[in-house]
Amino acid sequence: LMPRHSAKILSVRELAPGITHLVLEDAYVARHAAAGQFINLYTNDPTRMMPRPFGVSAVEGDAITLIFAVVGSGTLDFSRLRAGDSIDVLGPLGRGFDMSRSARYVLVGGGLGIPPLLYAAQQLMARSDADSLALLGYRDIRYADSTASRYCDAVRSIDESEGNVITLLNRHLGGLDGDECGEGKSGETIILSCGPHPMMKAVAQWASAHAIPSQLSLEARMGCGFGSCVACVEDTVEGRKKVCMDGPVFTADELGW
Ligand code: FES
Repeated sequence: LMPRHSAKILSVRELAPGITHLVLEDAYVARHAAAGQFINLYTNDPTRMMPRPFGVSAVEGDAITLIFAVVGSGTLDFSRLRAGDSIDVLGPLGRGFDMSRSARYVLVGGGLGIPPLLYAAQQLMARSDADSLALLGYRDIRYADSTASRYCDAVRSIDESEGNVITLLNRHLGGLDGDECGEGKSGETIILSCGPHPMMKAVAQWASAHAIPSQLSLEARMGCGFGSCVACVEDTVEGRKKVCMDGPVFTADELGW
């Protein structure tokens, strides 16, 4: 792991009210980040020592895209950065999605859980042995459809006023003999999910009821981001695990969901 280092901000804009789209230049992270991993950003305010974790949403050349909601003082600081500013970065951190199998990957995302899945889609797009189907539920981040359409073989989305991702799973994957989005190239289906915990629990349960393996990217309150503060523990079937190091991605079996 490369030590904490400085990265240059390339652009910052508001994607939707309260949602920031930030691009920074970091050749090391660009080369090494796996989908589902995160990076720590450190504020330039010396009174705030704790970093904030951000899932990687896209990598293009040396440019890393992060998409996040402004939820407190740290994220507010980052949303106010400007092109040309520098910021300290550590990462990539954590265990990302396991996409080692030839399969059809179904990316099930809710709200701000969608951006990290877009990076998974981007990596799958480069492979000839894998397909990707995105099932997205959201209220107000409609950018997701157009971005997902660039990377995924198929995208189905739903507005939260009309249903949720379980509606989409039933509609597009629930059929007993195939489904309208095709079987993928290998016939095997794996679900990757990121979103609010109740949504991911429902997705994991839907998946196991349909004998489909699932991987869930947990969101945890974090301190250090690399295993030394124990701020991020989560109960699993193998006891308490650190989301920052053992995750953030866990299988439904590991979580006992
Ligand atoms: Fe410090 Fe996980 S955030 S141990």
